[in-house]
Amino acid sequence: MIDKAFNLLKPELDNASGTALWIADENLLNQMNRVNTEVTVITNRFDLRQQLDDAGWQATFSDFDFTGYNDHSVDKILYRISKEKPVVHHVINQAIRILKPGGQLCISGLKNEGIKTYLDKAKKLFAGQMEMVKADKNTWMGILSSPGAADTELLEDQHYTELREVANDDNYSYISKPGVYGWNKIDKGSAYLIEELNLFLERLPNAPESILDLGCGYGYLSLNCASLGGKITATDNNAAAVRLCQENFDRQGIEAEVIAADCGDGIQGKFPLIICNPPFHQGFSTQGDLTDRFLNTARRRLQANGVACFVVNLHIPLERKALNMFDSIETVAANGSFKLVLLAQPQ
Ligand SMILES: C[S@@+](CC[C@H](N)C(=O)[O-])C[C@H]1O[C@@H](n2cnc3c(N)ncnc32)[C@H](O)[C@@H]1O
Repeated sequence: MIDKAFNLLKPELDNASGTALWIADENLLNQMNRVNTEVTVITNRFDLRQQLDDAGWQATFSDFDFTGYNDHSVDKILYRISKEKPVVHHVINQAIRILKPGGQLCISGLKNEGIKTYLDKAKKLFAGQMEMVKADKNTWMGILSSPGAADTELLEDQHYTELREVANDDNYSYISKPGVYGWNKIDKGSAYLIEELNLFLERLPNAPESILDLGCGYGYLSLNCASLGGKITATDNNAAAVRLCQENFDRQGIEAEVIAADCGDGIQGKFPLIICNPPFHQGFSTQGDLTDRFLNTARRRLQANGVACFVVNLHIPLERKALNMFDSIETVAANGSFKLVLLAQPQ
């Protein structure tokens, strides 16, 4: 599907020169453009970085980290807005810091994503210097020229870069930050999976020697499996998640491997225990179904006689999706919102 907001940005991307940055997030998966070798792309998604690399872009994978750019050192920034407000505000705040006086920030988005409000705020920050381009009544782009420094307060980005304690329970205190799915709480489905973990563990012949956490987020599931003693491998597609998960392990003195990967692609080895709370949306694009891809990785990485533990919303037909992939599919528990599904290939 063509993203109209990104289309508006394309001519600017084609013409960018000097020190130019394209800030790309999940909305841009499968939205390609002619490569401009003068532009560096910053993306927080591992799958997108791979696509960009393959296409020939110069791409970096980070949690929209601009620390490598000095104040007033960049000529142009191109940005199709993200879903989460703190991310958008972070990028706009960093733009005013790193753009040269007269340097340009081009931001596009759709009305129902709040582009009008973002442009109003950015215009204030950029002292009124904005040109507006509209593709139609819903698809807008603002081209803002930097006055050199902001003379009003920066936008509220919830201290985007700061790691902080966001939740705790009897076992741990969890460190997180904006930019990660459900960043400021314990996911209810994941908490349910941990509460009922014994329903899965009792099917294993021994304590698991290794554990794979697919889509680890800040690491809640992995941390709560650490006491089982198996070597943990945790993986996620999101740069902030990978960083936070590692940080939570380090703070708890847990030795584990955290790997950036798209649905666990490229992870080697077989695991007797796999834990997963899969995402059920993927930006605007429909590149196969994410749940199917997580199931597929679980199938490939599950050791004989191992168990994969999935937690999903009740309405997700996980059992049906798993039908041709696993010999044994069992819903071991459910509450009003979630179900826990055990997948295995007894051999
Ligand atoms: C529902 S959250 C679960 C997070 C964490 N396991 C927890 O229990 O709090 C799903 C996670 O999948 C990750 N994710 C989304 N798309 C992914 C992909 N293509 N590959 C790997 N992880 C992905 C998200 O970044 C998010 O951290």
